[in-house]
Amino acid sequence: MSQFDVAVIGAGPGGYIAAIRAAQLGFKTVCIDAGVNKAGDAPALGGTCLNVGCIPSKALLQSSEHFHAAQHDFAEHGITVGDVKFDAAKMIERKDGIVTKLTGGIKFLFQKNKVESLFGKGSLKGRNGDVWQVEVYNKGEKSVVEAKHVIIATGSVPRPLPLIDIDNVNVLDNEGALNLTEVPKKLGVIGSGVIGLEMGSVWKRVGSEVTILEAMPTFLAAADQQIAKEAFKVFTKEQGLAIELGVKINEIKNDKNGVTVSYEVGGEAKTETFDKLIVSIGRIPNTEGLNAEGVGLEKDERGFIKVDGECRTNLPNVWAIGDVVRGPMLAHKASDEGVAVAERIAGQKPHLDFNTIPFVIYTDPEIAWVGKTEEQLKAEGVEYKKGTSGFAANGRALGLGKAKGTVKVLACAKTDRVLGVHMIGPMVSELVAEGVMSMEFSASSEDIARIVHAHPTLSEVLHEAALAADKRALHG
Ligand code: FAD
Ligand code: NAI
Repeated sequence: MSQFDVAVIGAGPGGYIAAIRAAQLGFKTVCIDAGVNKAGDAPALGGTCLNVGCIPSKALLQSSEHFHAAQHDFAEHGITVGDVKFDAAKMIERKDGIVTKLTGGIKFLFQKNKVESLFGKGSLKGRNGDVWQVEVYNKGEKSVVEAKHVIIATGSVPRPLPLIDIDNVNVLDNEGALNLTEVPKKLGVIGSGVIGLEMGSVWKRVGSEVTILEAMPTFLAAADQQIAKEAFKVFTKEQGLAIELGVKINEIKNDKNGVTVSYEVGGEAKTETFDKLIVSIGRIPNTEGLNAEGVGLEKDERGFIKVDGECRTNLPNVWAIGDVVRGPMLAHKASDEGVAVAERIAGQKPHLDFNTIPFVIYTDPEIAWVGKTEEQLKAEGVEYKKGTSGFAANGRALGLGKAKGTVKVLACAKTDRVLGVHMIGPMVSELVAEGVMSMEFSASSEDIARIVHAHPTLSEVLHEAALAADKRALHG
């Protein structure tokens, strides 16, 4: 029987990073993962993020953005292109190439850091003295590894909609939505969350007529509502995404005519037939096959493995990280928890600040934020001041042809400490890092205002918003 200091179950961005960090700290480490590639014929490390999540979705967003730009934006630069054509299969092939490259890269990183990689489904068997036994199932074969510490990083799976089965032919989850090789004429999306908006944008840009049906009456309820309202206007009025809020789905039929959705909105009954339907109504923690009940691993009422602030479960030396535990389902949160757990096992005292985890939605314009929204500050009775500035007159944004959007800095009215930074605009996925850094170092809005920002850059808009918080904007 193989013996290890640390056994990690799951090789998504939580698990593979935890395994690498544990090995770097001198622990004999094994990472057990059951993920397979798109063809289903070989192991694929990287979990949801690399295979059917963050990375492939961003590849498609980029391809579709290029197509859209060639059709609509090149002319104003004096560039004439002929009959611009789109090949969905080629776009998917490019995306698959990126996925293969990155998942293969993890294999290389495991070798480099001396992490043993085991293919198969990991299941907690029980304790043998002070070590845990983990059974690994691979095509009917069973092996057992022993480890002093176990880190569970088994991620999440799409939340099912009881009204319809996912066949990934006409009714799609994220996996199907990332693999369409023809552009659907009419695409329906249930849920206007992150996947709905990103995937809806991809297929809209390449020619689909897209309708998004959202249960909540508020658009992007977790985002700052000033930014969310601006986004809603751009997506619906300028980009032509049909987004219906406050929808109740009554029935879905998937037959030879397509996928027919019957729903109510504002007291009115409606029926729409789509060629394809994406169901993106959130994700649920994945503990399938772990034998959680058998070993007494506690879960909360929503199925997340219960952990304390430092990712300890109720079982000794069993830790859990990433999407399978509380907190935002984001790759960077999973990875940072993985690093922190490995370091805790090594006796270090790492700290992960949940208040400074950035959120990004990769639409165009992008949406990004860190910290509290205005709505949260009001609800908490915190006195705040705010500064906003737009990209409309920013030289770099104008040069890019993307002079649209807003940056908002929220700071404590008494101390000026930055409490939140909210953005919609070009490349704000990159810009938000300055907000994160500011908050991590307890910066004031004046600190941001006094930092020299390069010219001409998009970051000048954040600079200007920080100046505006003190009512001394220079370009406002
Ligand atoms: P996962 O990535 O889900 O990995 C879990 C791994 O564990 C899988 O490989 C699985 O096969 C394996 N596994 C499960 N059970 C077992 C078992 N019993 N034994 C062995 N192996 C097992 N987040 C971002 O931050 N940015 C983005 O842009 C972004 N885009 C996304 C786009 C889409 C379409 C989706 C669906 C998600 C996106 N996410 C994004 C979320 C991100 O993918 C997840 O937050 C992240 O992958 C969670 O990492 P994880 O390691 O916890 O789990
Ligand atoms: P989500 O939680 O972002 O959005 C789901 C949406 O579906 C919500 O707006 C919800 O109100 C709505 N909904 C739920 N039930 C419904 C119903 N019956 N009818 C209509 N609408 C309904 O979840 P999503 O988009 O599925 O993504 C899952 C997770 O993956 C995200 O929460 C995020 O953590 C991660 N992700 C992150 C990305 C990023 O960081 N850029 C990109 C994509 C996914």
